[in-house]
Amino acid sequence: MSHIQGKVVIITGASSGIGQATAKELASKGAKLVLAARREDRLKNLQQEIKDIGAEAVYKVTDVTSNQQMEELAAYALKEFGKIDVMVNNAGLMPLSPLHEKKINEWDTMIDVNIKGVLYGIAAVLPSMRERKEGHIINVSSVAGHTVMAASAVYSGTKFAVRAISEGLRMEECSNNIRSTIISPGLVATELPETISGTELKSAINDYYNIAIPAENIARAIAYAIEQPSDVGINEMIIRPILQEL
Ligand SMILES: NC(=O)c1ccc[n+]([C@@H]2O[C@H](COP(=O)([O-])OP(=O)(O)OC[C@H]3O[C@@H](n4cnc5c(N)ncnc54)[C@H](OP(=O)(O)O)[C@@H]3O)[C@@H](O)[C@H]2O)c1
Repeated sequence: MSHIQGKVVIITGASSGIGQATAKELASKGAKLVLAARREDRLKNLQQEIKDIGAEAVYKVTDVTSNQQMEELAAYALKEFGKIDVMVNNAGLMPLSPLHEKKINEWDTMIDVNIKGVLYGIAAVLPSMRERKEGHIINVSSVAGHTVMAASAVYSGTKFAVRAISEGLRMEECSNNIRSTIISPGLVATELPETISGTELKSAINDYYNIAIPAENIARAIAYAIEQPSDVGINEMIIRPILQEL
């Protein structure tokens, strides 16, 4: 039996891209999904698609920048399914820009979603996982969490932070049998570049995304981390298109 069968998995950012593909992949392997994002119509459609293949899914409209909403999301998962096996902190934004443009609101949003959202996700699920002495927290970082480019200073800062937080979590919670996985994708074909507000930069990044791989490839990497025996930790994976040099 797959180690995914019957596991209760919360996914943030499930309304598109990597989160959506991961929900479908895990549902096809028998996981019970708790889908979270802000766009309800998308979540509803995805829930139906998952039900259509005979798997279980519920959804809750959630803004990851609200600690209260993240606590409510975890409470909802516990109410619906009685446990939380896996938390996938995937929601994220990438409004790239050079620092001198002073896009302070975009910096704030990136920090709130990409860093605080992950922290609130961890905080929401840790108590019940510690109680059960079992659990798995998967945080989506990026190749940009390993390297910095012009215009990626703040985005990379948030993704370096995700890796630091994930490694701290691993060290603190390994004795409680809680696994920590960092997923660092390279270029993946999703809506992510749409969050870039500068038109020239967006067009350059879109060109760069010509070699992007489908989100299903990242979904399979996440499934691989989950399906390992419970005494095996897949702590970090980098998944790039083979043509991506950076
Ligand atoms: N695509 C890539 O090339 C790539 C590469 C490396 C890393 N990543 C990372 O992969 C993760 C997923 O991104 P993606 O590529 O799948 O992009 P995407 O298609 O744009 O998906 C982003 C998801 O985040 C959700 N989200 C944004 N703000 C949110 C908020 N405040 N509260 C709750 N959900 C929020 C969005 O849902 P709503 O708008 O409905 O809330 C959406 O479901 C991100 O962390 C991203 O940084 C992507």
